[in-house]
Amino acid sequence: MEKGEVFTMDENCNYVKMFSAIGILSLLYIAIRLVYGIWSYFIIYLTPTKLNFNSFGSWAVVTGSTDGIGKGIAYELAKRKMNILLISRNSEKLKTVSTEIEQKFDVKTKIVALDLSVVDDTTEANYSKIANVVENLDIAVLVNNAGLGANGEFLNAFSKSKDSDIKTGIPKLIYCNDYAMAMVTAMVLPQMQANGKGGIVVNLSSLAASVTMPKHALYSASKRFNDTFTKAMNEEYNGSGILFQSILPGVVSTNMTSNSKTSFLVPSYEEFASHTIDTLGKNVMSAGYYRHGLLHILLTMLPEPLVSRALMKR
Ligand SMILES: NC(=O)c1ccc[n+]([C@@H]2O[C@H](COP(=O)([O-])OP(=O)(O)OC[C@H]3O[C@@H](n4cnc5c(N)ncnc54)[C@H](OP(=O)(O)O)[C@@H]3O)[C@@H](O)[C@H]2O)c1
Repeated sequence: MEKGEVFTMDENCNYVKMFSAIGILSLLYIAIRLVYGIWSYFIIYLTPTKLNFNSFGSWAVVTGSTDGIGKGIAYELAKRKMNILLISRNSEKLKTVSTEIEQKFDVKTKIVALDLSVVDDTTEANYSKIANVVENLDIAVLVNNAGLGANGEFLNAFSKSKDSDIKTGIPKLIYCNDYAMAMVTAMVLPQMQANGKGGIVVNLSSLAASVTMPKHALYSASKRFNDTFTKAMNEEYNGSGILFQSILPGVVSTNMTSNSKTSFLVPSYEEFASHTIDTLGKNVMSAGYYRHGLLHILLTMLPEPLVSRALMKR
């Protein structure tokens, strides 16, 4: 428009109509997103899973299954008559949990004692052990759950640990949280594929992966690996009958969180696991627990710099 030129009445009307249409379409878009969001939340967190795990096969593999979330998930799967292959470090704890599961749920178990945070000249043989055990099992479910935490500013993140300093702590965390997830998947997936009945791979990430989390830099970055890996694998295996799903819990009362007192936002691992099982097979990610689902929505809706600055100040 040239300087001094004025709008005619008709032009003014057209602009008003155009801005009204943009406004109405924007409101419609927001309303559809809102309704879809509420509907998805309801389906993911408040309805039972439709997956029949037994139709995929009779065995589930769970890493880090002698304590916390992994133990809770192993029990939930055994309750649904899945046989369980338990993988953790400590042989005694493995035997105790295996006996408990067999007696309580009348299913079979197998155990593999393995430190997933170590990579040395025994690593290849250790992972081959997993491949050999699963070779004759019809694997339906893999839960990559074992994980290590590290809290505090990066250089001090391992200062309170009795068995790690920064030089040993960094590789241990990355091997256990990321390397092991990829390696165990590589050992189990071919067997799941060979069975030809489909299956589900469940990878434990964390709510810490969905935001930029100062004072948990290494842990939250390692957990973002879990989520990204899962989403890419789910696309890669689309149509194969094998699903991949990441779980992004908030705080759960386990050894990792010094058995924090349970509260409105902190469930016991048993409660968390029973809700998590019901979120499976519905979406490529879930927070596992309906209250953590709300936290996830809130954290991802707010501007990321605002969230990370608030977390830094906390
Ligand atoms: N708790 C939370 O608030 C929370 C929140 C978000 C995400 N997560 C994620 O959920 C997963 C489980 O956490 P959790 O809180 O249940 O942990 P946890 O209570 O500390 O239990 C960890 C389990 O993993 C096993 N494990 C630990 N290190 C291992 C290693 N190097 N090799 C093999 N097994 C090992 C432990 O058994 P052994 O000691 O016998 O080996 C135990 O069975 C982790 O991936 C964690 O990042 C937890």
